[in-house]
Amino acid sequence: MRIIPDPYFCKELEGGLDWRKVGSWQADERFAEAAEIMRPFFPAGEGEPAVHVDYDKGIAEEGYELEVKPGGVYVKASSASGVLYAFSSLRIHSGADLGKNRMRAVRIKDKPKVHYRGLLLDVARYFASVDEVKKIIDLMLLLKLNVLHLHLTDDQGWRVEIKKYPLLTQVGAKREKTNIGCWQSTADDGTPHEGFYTQDDVRDIVAYAAARGITIVPEIDMPAHFTSAFAAYPWLACREVEGIKPAWFMGGKYPESIGWEDWNRSACMGKESTFEFIFGVLDEICELFPGPFIHIGGDEAPKEEWKKCPLCQKRKKELGLKTEKQLQGYFTNRVYEYVKGKGKQLIGWNEVLGGKNLDKDVVVQYWTALPDRKVKKHIKKGGRVILSKHEAFYFDMPYAQYPLKNTYSFTPKQLRIGKKYEKNILGYEGCLWAEWTPTLDKREFQLFPRAEALAEIAWNTRGVNEEKFLKAKDDFAQILRALGVTYACDEIAQISDRKKRKEITSAWYQKDTNVEYNMQRSEASLPTQSE
Ligand code: ACM
Ligand code: ZN
Repeated sequence: MRIIPDPYFCKELEGGLDWRKVGSWQADERFAEAAEIMRPFFPAGEGEPAVHVDYDKGIAEEGYELEVKPGGVYVKASSASGVLYAFSSLRIHSGADLGKNRMRAVRIKDKPKVHYRGLLLDVARYFASVDEVKKIIDLMLLLKLNVLHLHLTDDQGWRVEIKKYPLLTQVGAKREKTNIGCWQSTADDGTPHEGFYTQDDVRDIVAYAAARGITIVPEIDMPAHFTSAFAAYPWLACREVEGIKPAWFMGGKYPESIGWEDWNRSACMGKESTFEFIFGVLDEICELFPGPFIHIGGDEAPKEEWKKCPLCQKRKKELGLKTEKQLQGYFTNRVYEYVKGKGKQLIGWNEVLGGKNLDKDVVVQYWTALPDRKVKKHIKKGGRVILSKHEAFYFDMPYAQYPLKNTYSFTPKQLRIGKKYEKNILGYEGCLWAEWTPTLDKREFQLFPRAEALAEIAWNTRGVNEEKFLKAKDDFAQILRALGVTYACDEIAQISDRKKRKEITSAWYQKDTNVEYNMQRSEASLPTQSE
């Protein structure tokens, strides 16, 4: 089977090895845990050949060397991640998940292109259970993805327990019902939706991920996308609105269409209590998530309330700021300094560059479909970016709009980021927003095969070879099928007919965001989990 993402060097050799003859696993003690995690994925046998896992300081970070010979399996790495990735490659190469015992001898030397290979899971719009998150983590490991960005808060729900502010989850983690249909739809399912991670749940997820080489980046979106926080603590807003509740509708199109202006607002920048609250939340978040990054969103923050609020205006004047965008810059810089004091780095969506007064050490995640020239300026100043461009990495969008090719053919050249500045690209991240993905099954449908393309972009040091990638994707589909993971079939993921693409895309936006999912389910031959 062809390995995805494509290894740096891979040569199949004469002969092979049968797992039924492999009697023991011998791992350097530094790698004992990694070896134990991977061992259950392979058949157990009896005999002389063994699996050897050794330390070699000369191997690149996250890299590995793997040899399968008739006499045994030999893995070398300088990090536990390298060991995990050697066995992820071996899982695919050997077809162990398909019940195969015999594998070809092979020699692989491998290392990643970038060290930030991320996936965003939106657990705010729809909650995902701890077990569901762990299933995604398992699949990330198989593809050598190493950052799980959890979008933990949004208008529609607050999903992480904060001891200092218990109402965030007592009030903010539950909504009365959920919008269904599409962006302009006013229909709802009539069913309450709720869920949050206790701090023990968080520790469980963080430890499970860490053992699999995955860092969690927690996102607490601020100062906007804050309705669930306002529902718990209305004083966070410039102007308190009575009876505000976690939003049951998705996105702003519906309330805008009925002229409802009071739902999506930004936290007050003038009150010190806003900062006290945010720092209190971040104290617990920084403690709970030991990774180097904290994400504070910062996207789509409306400024109208700030323009009308005497306290925000007072702050703006005192600081000599010219615009409300600069007020957001002040806010982001202040949060950045706070988080830096705890030894963490800050990430924000590219709108945080709006005021042109952002500290260059804030990492910017570039998502917007429209080009943002400020991102290039940020890079030229030495700033770092994570690339999540909408047309390539927004995995919640219909395949008819963004076919698989958008992801695997993406290169930074499309953004005119010159070679000289490529070192400022921390990495790539696929975003699986969840407005229209209530179940794990549908999350998987949106995610696969796009996650494979993401892994290929972020790992493959030579650039993606289309033909090779598509063949490896077909091999990987067999594994997904064996694991009971739903993926979009080629007829959907690789649709090329322009007319059909237009029809499906417009149906997705105007009628039903399940249009592609239902197409797949209605074809008996196409894979879905429920069959
Ligand atoms: C975003 O999609 N608003 C980051
Ligand atoms: Zn205010």
